[in-house]
Amino acid sequence: VRAAVERLSAPEKAEVLVEALPYLRRFAGAVVVVKYGGGAIGEDLSLFAQDAVLLHSVGLRVVVVHGGGPQIGELMDRLGKVPQFVDGLRVTDAETLDIARMVLVGKVNRDIVRALNVHGPVAVGVSGEDAGLLLARPSAPELGFVGQVEAVDPGILERLLAAAVIPVVATIGSDGGGQAFNINADTAAGAVAEALGAAKLVYLTDVDGVRTSPDDPATVQSTVTVDELDTLLAQGAVRGGMIPKVRSAAAAVRGGVGHAHILDGRVPHALLLEIFTRAGVGTMVDR
Ligand SMILES: Nc1ncnc2c1ncn2[C@@H]1O[C@H](COP(=O)(O)OP(=O)(O)O)[C@@H](O)[C@H]1O
Ligand SMILES: [Mg+2]
Repeated sequence: VRAAVERLSAPEKAEVLVEALPYLRRFAGAVVVVKYGGGAIGEDLSLFAQDAVLLHSVGLRVVVVHGGGPQIGELMDRLGKVPQFVDGLRVTDAETLDIARMVLVGKVNRDIVRALNVHGPVAVGVSGEDAGLLLARPSAPELGFVGQVEAVDPGILERLLAAAVIPVVATIGSDGGGQAFNINADTAAGAVAEALGAAKLVYLTDVDGVRTSPDDPATVQSTVTVDELDTLLAQGAVRGGMIPKVRSAAAAVRGGVGHAHILDGRVPHALLLEIFTRAGVGTMVDR
């Protein structure tokens, strides 16, 4: 790609920048919540960091919410911890919660913050436990410390954004009594986007978008409405890790978020392409 860009003439390069102009104007000052998925994080953190810092530098207010499922699984393996399941659902006991918290807050969050701060002092990491950000309650008692978002207090994020900082959120929540819970990062990102009145909620994942037939790349949708997402869910066309994305994308758009996008975060600069070019990539969710 770099070689091709270097072959562009100066007027061609200028044309590329000019294509971004209407988008720069439209989104100046807008809040964009980017959920960076565990699958995409395995790829190049420095490319993601360039995109997020570029958006930040041209005046968008960027909030990063990250997952880390594969990274948690990896440390569990290394520690010889065998996952427990109830009716096919993974149980989070106190030890698993500790591992999840260590990996998300202590490793994945740090890695993202470090990659962003290579470009200057722009990013601060927070956990949902910080300043009451994510108030949690158990999603199902038999699953242990898996939490659901009860409420979002966006105050700490608003203060960081006002200070021109990119907050990077690890999705560990806490109940009123100080008990921690592991919260699905898709759900948390949707709730945070809604609480901040975000213009955009972008899921960077490891698939090209929402497909009407999960295993068939030819069925990827470039735009879907929230009602169409409900239908896909009801038909069983959305499975596994795509379910919380589709549910929370639909809920966030119904709750006032401008648009939600589901993109392949492994594609270099997917985030920039979606926000600053006519073509766009992945799936855009409309009202
Ligand atoms: N209808 C669908 N369209 C696209 N992907 C789907 C669909 N149903 C299930 N999936 C699966 O959802 C996965 C993305 O969710 P997940 O693995 O949890 O990623 P992340 O780490 O980004 O949360 C894809 O890799 C894909 O296999
Ligand atoms: Mg997932």
